[in-house]
Amino acid sequence: MRQQATTVQPSVIMISILALITLPLIQTSPIKISSEVTGKAVIQIPRFRAEEPDAYMCMAVPATDIELKNVVGYKVEVIKEITHHISVAFCEDYETNQPLWDCKNHHGDICSGRSIAFGGWDGYSGHHKDTWFPDDVGIQFGKDLKLNYIVIQMHLEEAVLDPSALKSNPANITLFLTEQSRKYSYQKVNLFSYGYIPPFSEDFKAELTYKWEGSPINAYEYFAHTHAYGYLLEGYIVRNNTIIFSMKENTQEKKQDMTPVEGGLVEIRPGDVLALRCSYRNPGQKNITFGLKGGDEMCNLIYNFKYDAKDIDAFPRSIKSGADVQDRVWCPKDGIGQVDVLCDMQQAASVIRRPRTTKYSNVI
Ligand SMILES: *[C@@H]1O[C@H](CO)[C@@H](O)[C@H](O)[C@H]1NC(C)=O
Ligand SMILES: *[C@@H]1O[C@H](CO)[C@@H](O)[C@H](O)[C@H]1NC(C)=O
Ligand SMILES: *[C@@H]1O[C@H](CO)[C@@H](O)[C@H](O)[C@H]1NC(C)=O
Repeated sequence: MRQQATTVQPSVIMISILALITLPLIQTSPIKISSEVTGKAVIQIPRFRAEEPDAYMCMAVPATDIELKNVVGYKVEVIKEITHHISVAFCEDYETNQPLWDCKNHHGDICSGRSIAFGGWDGYSGHHKDTWFPDDVGIQFGKDLKLNYIVIQMHLEEAVLDPSALKSNPANITLFLTEQSRKYSYQKVNLFSYGYIPPFSEDFKAELTYKWEGSPINAYEYFAHTHAYGYLLEGYIVRNNTIIFSMKENTQEKKQDMTPVEGGLVEIRPGDVLALRCSYRNPGQKNITFGLKGGDEMCNLIYNFKYDAKDIDAFPRSIKSGADVQDRVWCPKDGIGQVDVLCDMQQAASVIRRPRTTKYSNVI
């Protein structure tokens, strides 16, 4: 079992910053990938020290120096041996005012004000190619748009006790830029579970529903994620008690990070319900808690969507919604907000649920 993660000592980090780095380096240069993409900005993350494995380190780079202000794609290069995952966001502001800080206790909530977390790198995935947004999607950023910083969060797998012994700097982030803005802007919806999976669960289900209240959007791809106990993730969009979109992914056979929505797009309108269900086996005698550590579980579905860039204030931040897996929210106890088609599915699933095997009965 993975060791309980320990926090990086902030004092050590500050000393290391002084000893090893001042600020991350941004280099901008012209490139010619297509006639439209005319420049790139490369952010080189400098070497730093991390005392313990499983450290979360964040770095902020002022973005206002970059001349071209439409990001249409990106590339992340890392040292694979030490990296668990990396996320990259544009933020209006962030709380610490330091260039590099320990952000273990701020997962997902690092930015204040406007923010767009648009990319990253995931050690679980085998796909580490350049990422391009759809042809009509771009992120405009810069001071006027209240996106003043590029914030990079690094979840390191291993401690870095001697940064000078690393084979290179830990990561480079390249942004592909255009001069022309595009018709649509980018944002995402992030649905996730919390709670725990009880011991000896043959078929435990985490459920979530989220009612869309915002303006209409078009979701074009999704990311489905569980850890080792999860074997199936299902996502649904329900309009007027009718399923208008569904996806199922075996999360143990994950082939790619982002899966395109079948047919290219699904429109989500006000009143639609986004639903999520993950299935788990926990044959052990301990609770498995939902959380961010490698030994925790997750039920996580993210839709990347595009919306009219003229309506830029419609989605100043990503939309996040979590549910407690103990609540079985597809059939709420009080019935409030119940979506019948989902409750029927929950009940159908409990009928076919396999009985517990006798192997467990003497333990219970
Ligand atoms: C980052 O870019 C520099 C300059 O090209 C290169 O020397 C270094 O190896 C790169 N780092 C990674 C992690 O790829
Ligand atoms: C649901 O159906 C009603 C009646 O047919 C209709 O008025 C309403 O617009 C529909 N809602 C959505 C979100 O499509
Ligand atoms: C699992 O967690 C619940 C809620 O905290 C607790 O009541 C229960 O005793 C735990 N079970 C085990 C086996 O630890």
